[in-house]
Amino acid sequence: MPKFLNKVICGDCIEVLANAKPFADLIFADPPFNIGYKYDKYYDKVKKKNYIAWTKDWMAVCKKVLKPHGSFYIAIGDEYAANVKIIADELGLFMRNWIIWHYTFGQQTKKKFARAHTHIFYFVNDKKKFTFNDYAVRVPSDRQLIYNDRRANPKGKMPNDVWDEFPRVCGTFKERQGWHPCQMPESLLTRITAVSSNPGDCVLDPFSGSGTTTAVAYQSGRNYVGVEISQKYVENTEKRLAELKKQQFSNLFLNAAELNELKRLSTDTKIPLREITADKKLLKQFTNQFAVRMNNQKQYGTKQIMTALEDLAD
Ligand SMILES: C[S@@+](CC[C@H](N)C(=O)[O-])C[C@H]1O[C@@H](n2cnc3c(N)ncnc32)[C@H](O)[C@@H]1O
Repeated sequence: MPKFLNKVICGDCIEVLANAKPFADLIFADPPFNIGYKYDKYYDKVKKKNYIAWTKDWMAVCKKVLKPHGSFYIAIGDEYAANVKIIADELGLFMRNWIIWHYTFGQQTKKKFARAHTHIFYFVNDKKKFTFNDYAVRVPSDRQLIYNDRRANPKGKMPNDVWDEFPRVCGTFKERQGWHPCQMPESLLTRITAVSSNPGDCVLDPFSGSGTTTAVAYQSGRNYVGVEISQKYVENTEKRLAELKKQQFSNLFLNAAELNELKRLSTDTKIPLREITADKKLLKQFTNQFAVRMNNQKQYGTKQIMTALEDLAD
């Protein structure tokens, strides 16, 4: 896929990907949910049977371009979650997790319970062989943080399959692009990218939208391929990526990847940066967890981490 590498292509993902050989180590697909959202170039309220047939088609094309040991995540609403699971079974994908992304910003309703979640399926091509970097997503456990329990795993614990640490991107958020109706948070995509791909891998998003997956792949040192049917969204995504490529984050001790990881750890643990710097024990715990996540030979001191956290909090 070299001609598409690190590009966002304007087109219909089924057509664009139809003749490609397997190239993706990780696919994240967040298709329109068929619930009447207003997109620039896609009508999001088609007949149920047409939507299911289309879902089969794009999932089949994605499966074809997924490498033998690749991972495939799909975000979907309640209406078609069961269909996605059945189609995945038919295509020979293996489900590793059925993740619930829970957010508190649910739309209010009078006549039923307010919806506050999206399904995220995590499939793989090969049941036994796939990338899963557990160290990159571990968080400090209650045993470590609260109970001082010596039996605690010093590497922290794995998050569970209900993800409630990633708020939806609302109007006041710095990362909000403002020109796309349903932008996913970068923090959520960063977890998926960190655990299911390695630096230099290729991440594909067949429904690129505001370009969140490509932005995260770039910042995480992965290659990306985005496909998006709207020319306007593609152009805006190119601007989003160009802005990112201009930014130079680093401080005296830590490079951009390390600073991003610090921010991500603070989101994942739901502990604000200022709280970490104000508590010596917590800072030590946080520094240890950070070192586990970086998984390199470097030694990180609490003073360096403190300085970086203070910079980030400003
Ligand atoms: C739910 S949004 C994706 C949002 C994205 N995850 C983000 O964070 O911005 C779905 C996107 O799919 C695009 N789309 C719809 N049909 C498509 C197709 N056949 N091929 C490529 N893109 C398509 C829509 O224009 C829309 O931007």
